Amino acid sequence: MSDNKNANSIQIARKYLDSLVVEGRILGAVHPTSQVTILGKEFETPIMTAALSHLKPGLAGYAEGAKAAGALASVGMCEEPEMAQVLATGASVIEIIKPYADKEAILSRIRFAEANGAFGVGMDVEHSVNSDDDADSMVGPYAMKLPTLEELKEYVASTNLPFFFKGALSVQDALTAREIGAAGIILSHHNSLMKWAIPPYALLKDIRAAVGDDLILIADGGIEDGFDAFKVLALGADLVSIGKPFIAPYNTDGVEGVRQTIETMTKELKALMVRTGSKDVKSIDPSVIHEAWWLK
Ligand SMILES: Cc1cc2nc3c(=O)[nH]c(=O)nc-3n(C[C@H](O)[C@H](O)[C@H](O)COP(=O)(O)O)c2cc1C
Repeated sequence: MSDNKNANSIQIARKYLDSLVVEGRILGAVHPTSQVTILGKEFETPIMTAALSHLKPGLAGYAEGAKAAGALASVGMCEEPEMAQVLATGASVIEIIKPYADKEAILSRIRFAEANGAFGVGMDVEHSVNSDDDADSMVGPYAMKLPTLEELKEYVASTNLPFFFKGALSVQDALTAREIGAAGIILSHHNSLMKWAIPPYALLKDIRAAVGDDLILIADGGIEDGFDAFKVLALGADLVSIGKPFIAPYNTDGVEGVRQTIETMTKELKALMVRTGSKDVKSIDPSVIHEAWWLK
């Protein structure tokens, strides 16, 4: 990974996660609950689906899988008729809208999400530029644009839905997101779209210290199972967002594949919760995590 052109932020993130080990606090431990309450709504697990797109069986089944597991869903780019199917599943969905160059297209998608019962909306601001800073970034047939701060403010203010900025990746971004009224941020480098990105979870402690409980903190990127999820939650995330590990189970087993994968991961998460004396997600003590220098 020394060649800058081949820098891979998922590999960097994996290296970081794999260097963290967990101490055990079993004496007096109790069986934990994985339930979390986000903006007044209860979920069975803090593991949520990441905003994917272009899934062959369609995004509706992906969201339905999350719903079947009692999980929050986020979904990515799709046309409005497909989004209507996603929202009709009754899943709790955060619709991540692209930073289209066409501002009216964004506002119209926000209105659509609101009218069709979305849990929240967001924007993957990190996808407004390509890895090579191509000012004419395109996603499929659509032109993207780096939104101005004024525009971001306008999007947040245009809706009563909680707004999430995806791609925020610093204390500075977190403070800005809070200032302009976001409900939360999804710390992400969009599957290595940003090269040499700091592992999103490596920032959680600093961001939590900076914003307290004012923002919902979600992190993604290379998280593969419930043991990883435990580490990310211990570092300060409210929710852990996972994408690629659901693709194969979804392709093979549809809704059931997503449900089962989330449930298996949740069991893994609880296996570490019970062994660290964490009775619920909020009580996971960050000091159970140690950086293992010998694994680096
Ligand atoms: C096939 C695929 C499609 C994606 N589409 C979107 C999208 O439309 N919107 C978005 O915000 N992120 C999209 N992402 C990025 C994911 O939301 C997530 O940030 C990334 O995959 C890292 O998480 P993971 O390692 O758990 O997959 C996509 C990722 C993949 C692999």
